[in-house]
Amino acid sequence: MTTPSSSWPGTDGATAPPPGCPAHGLGPNGLRRLYGPEADTDLAGLYEKLRAEHGPVAPVLIHNDVPIWAVLGHSENLHMIRTPSQYTRDSRIWRAVRDGTAGPDNPLAPVFTWQPMATFAEGDEHQRLRGAVTGAMSGIDHRGVRRYINRYTNHLLNDICQDGQADLVSQFAEHLPMMVMCHILGMPEEYNERMVQSARDMIKGTETAIASNAYIMKVMMGLVARRRAHPEEDFTSSLIAHPAQLSDDEVGAHLRLVLIAAYEATANLIANVLRMVLTDPRFRAQLSGGQMTVPEAVEQSLWDEPPFSAMVGYFAKQETQLGGQRIRPGDGLIFGIAPGNVDPMVRPDLAANMQGNRSHLAFGSGPHECPGQDIGRAIADTGVDALLMRLPDVELDVPESELRWTSSILSRHLVQLPVRFAPRPPQDVMARPSAQVPAPRRDWHVSSPPPSRAPEPVAAQAPQQPASAPLAENERPKGAWRRFLTWWRGY
Ligand code: HEM
Repeated sequence: MTTPSSSWPGTDGATAPPPGCPAHGLGPNGLRRLYGPEADTDLAGLYEKLRAEHGPVAPVLIHNDVPIWAVLGHSENLHMIRTPSQYTRDSRIWRAVRDGTAGPDNPLAPVFTWQPMATFAEGDEHQRLRGAVTGAMSGIDHRGVRRYINRYTNHLLNDICQDGQADLVSQFAEHLPMMVMCHILGMPEEYNERMVQSARDMIKGTETAIASNAYIMKVMMGLVARRRAHPEEDFTSSLIAHPAQLSDDEVGAHLRLVLIAAYEATANLIANVLRMVLTDPRFRAQLSGGQMTVPEAVEQSLWDEPPFSAMVGYFAKQETQLGGQRIRPGDGLIFGIAPGNVDPMVRPDLAANMQGNRSHLAFGSGPHECPGQDIGRAIADTGVDALLMRLPDVELDVPESELRWTSSILSRHLVQLPVRFAPRPPQDVMARPSAQVPAPRRDWHVSSPPPSRAPEPVAAQAPQQPASAPLAENERPKGAWRRFLTWWRGY
C-alpha cells in the first residue's frame, strides 16, 4: 500500500498492530476499515469509535485498503464542502487515483471516477453545467408536480389496496420517485419495471450493473435525440435549449445524474419516513401527547437517517488543517453526512426533536448543494401524506426488530417494510381520497399541514388509467411557454 501522507497516525509502524491483523479488525498501519464485517454490522458505532479516538476528522481505509480521511464533525464537514479554494470534488487530483491505489477495480470506482458532469466539476465549468441543470429545473411547475405525485401515489396504492398487505419498499417507495422523475424529464411512457430494476441494479453494483447502466443511457440518449428534433415543455428540452449549449453526451450524462440521484435518495427517504411514522413513539399521540406534520417527519428523518450517508469524496487542493489534522494536497476526504448529523457538538441529545431546524447535512451545502432538494422533499411529503390518507389504518406487519437494512459507506437502505391494512377497492386516481375508509389508528398522530389551496375537482366517473399509461396531452403541467400559449389562444 502506498503511504497516504506521512502525517497519518500509525504510518511509522512503531505502535500499530501487524498489517491486516484480524484480531484487531484493523487494516494496514492500524487504521480502521470502513468496509468489511464491523462496518457492515454497525457503521454508526464504528464512526463513534473513530470520533472518540481521533476527534472530528479520522484516518480510515475504504475498499482495497485505500487510505482516506473520514470527516465526522458537523462544522468540519460544512467547512470542507463550503470552501472550494481548499477542497474540490475533482477526483483526478486524489493521490490514490494518481498512484493507482484507487483503480477501476475498486467497488467504489463508479462514485469516485471523474466524469464530465457537474458533480466532479469546479469553477466556471461547474457553473456552466450546474447552471444548465438549475435553469432547466426552474421551469418545473411545482404545483403541477405535486398533483402528479398524488396521482402516481394513487396508481401505486390501487395496485395493492385490495390485498390488505404490501411491502412499502418494493411496491411503493422504489416506484414513486421513478414515476415522478420520468414525468419531469418528459418520458412518462418510459416508466416501467425495467427502469426501476436497472436503477436499483446500478446502485447496488451487482454483476448486471454495467448492462443496467447501458440500458438507462440508451433510454436517456433516445430521449435527447427525440427532444433535439421536437422540443416539448419538459426538463430535457429545457436542458437542451439552455444557453450553456450542452452537447448531447453532456445532456445524457446529466439526465442520468438527475434520474439516479433523485431515484435513490428519494426512495430511501420515503422508506425511512414511512418506517418512522409506523414505529417511532414520537408519532404516537397517546404516548407523546404531541403532533408532527409529515414535512416535519421528513425533516427529522433527514437528520436521523440521511438518504445518502456519505459521499466519496472531496479532495484537498493545498496543505491545510481540518479538525486538528494536517491535510496534504491530494488527500481524499469522505463527506460524512450521517456522522456529521449526529455530531454531539450540534446534537448533544439525539432523542431531542429537531423540529424547525434544517441545518442537517443531507443535501450538502456550498457550490455542490443538492439543487433538487425541493423536488425530493415534495415527492416524500406528498407521497407519504397521500398514502396515510388512503390507508389511515396502515400498520407494520412484522415486529420492528425483524426489519433489515443493507448498508455501505454511501447509503443505508431498508430492505422491506411489510404492512397490513383493511382491504379496500381501488380508487379513481383523479379523485381526492374517499371518505369511505376505516377510521385512523388512534395511537399515532401524524397530521397533514392545512391545504394551501382549494382541493382539485373530483372527476368521479373518470375511467381509471393503468399505472404506466402515458399522460394525456392536456394533463401535462404548464410551463411558462404553455401558459403563454394558453393565454394567447384565449383559453
Ligand atoms: C431526498 C432526496 C435527495 C437527497 C437527500 C439528495 C442529496 C444530495 C447530495 C448530498 C448531493 C451532493 C452534495 C455535494 O456534492 O456536496 C446532491 C447533489 C445533487 N443532487 Fe440531490 N438529493 C436528493 C434529491 C435530488 C433530486 C430530486 C434531484 C433532481 C431532480 C437531485 C439532483 C442533484 C444533482 C444534479 C446534484 C449535483 C449538484 C452539483 O454537483 O452541483 N437530487 N444531492
